[in-house]
Amino acid sequence: MHVFQTKKEVINWVNSRKKEDKTIGFVPTMGALHSGHKSLMKLAQSHCDEIIVSIFVNPTQFGPNEDFNRYPRTLEADCMLAKEAGVHAVFAPSAEEIYGHSHSKITFSINGLNTHLCGKTRSGHFEGVLLVVNKLLNVVQPHNAFFGKKDIQQCIILQSMVKTLDIPVELVLAETVREQDGLALSSRNRYLSSSDREKAPLIYKTLKASKSSILNRLSVSKVITNAINLLKEKDFLIDYIELVNESDLEPVSEIIVGKSYILACAVYLGTTRLIDNILFKA
Ligand code: PAJ
Repeated sequence: MHVFQTKKEVINWVNSRKKEDKTIGFVPTMGALHSGHKSLMKLAQSHCDEIIVSIFVNPTQFGPNEDFNRYPRTLEADCMLAKEAGVHAVFAPSAEEIYGHSHSKITFSINGLNTHLCGKTRSGHFEGVLLVVNKLLNVVQPHNAFFGKKDIQQCIILQSMVKTLDIPVELVLAETVREQDGLALSSRNRYLSSSDREKAPLIYKTLKASKSSILNRLSVSKVITNAINLLKEKDFLIDYIELVNESDLEPVSEIIVGKSYILACAVYLGTTRLIDNILFKA
């Protein structure tokens, strides 16, 4: 498996693979890889001949009070996981390699999608994601790029970006990989204390129960208030629990049969922010 640090190395490798008529699958990550990331690599293998994974803790998508400095950096273990998953190349650039010495002032605001859900409290986050994914797609120029539905808002915003800017790539979305107790795998789970780890499965349990209640026509606002209260009782701090349209991420207070919705949440356990969601059709 190749490990590249420069854009030039990546471009040369991709060009050589394309010359041999190979299709390129790209999995962007911030490292601290786990089975959720691995599932994307496996999915990529079922679509493409050559798989490249980027590992880059992107500074522009972290707010000033967020966990950029303490975000886990485990490159050696990540390369082992990627190799084991059958990845052909890892791109692990420095921030300078990606951004040069000054950060670009170009920002994206795609159709207002980044003002909802996580966009409300993580100001600038999706702008940073859009910038880095755009840059990475320009370097790698893959046939397919793979993203996890665990970060559903990121998926929807990126799909919108690719469509709006006519970026010649097809995005493929993967299902959320969970622990046996339902907790969505996340690089941030390792921050949880053991007592918080015990509480964490309640997030998905609550989302599932709330989805059922909503489908059973209970009032959406009551269901969400109950979910918030239940999690608060167990010491969760709530950023949001919301029902939104899949199409535009606008909040919804009543469901319509046949339409698709996302029940999404962001909550804190201690200082660790966890997100999860359920995508469903009414
Ligand atoms: P990161 O959080 O490392 O996630 C990389 C990819 O793995 C994303 O597409 C994410 O949705 C997916 N992923 C994470 N946990 C998952 C799980 N439990 N099941 C399935 N997929 C999962 O998302 C980012 O990095 C960054 O924002 C990035 C897109 C790399 C831009 O910097």
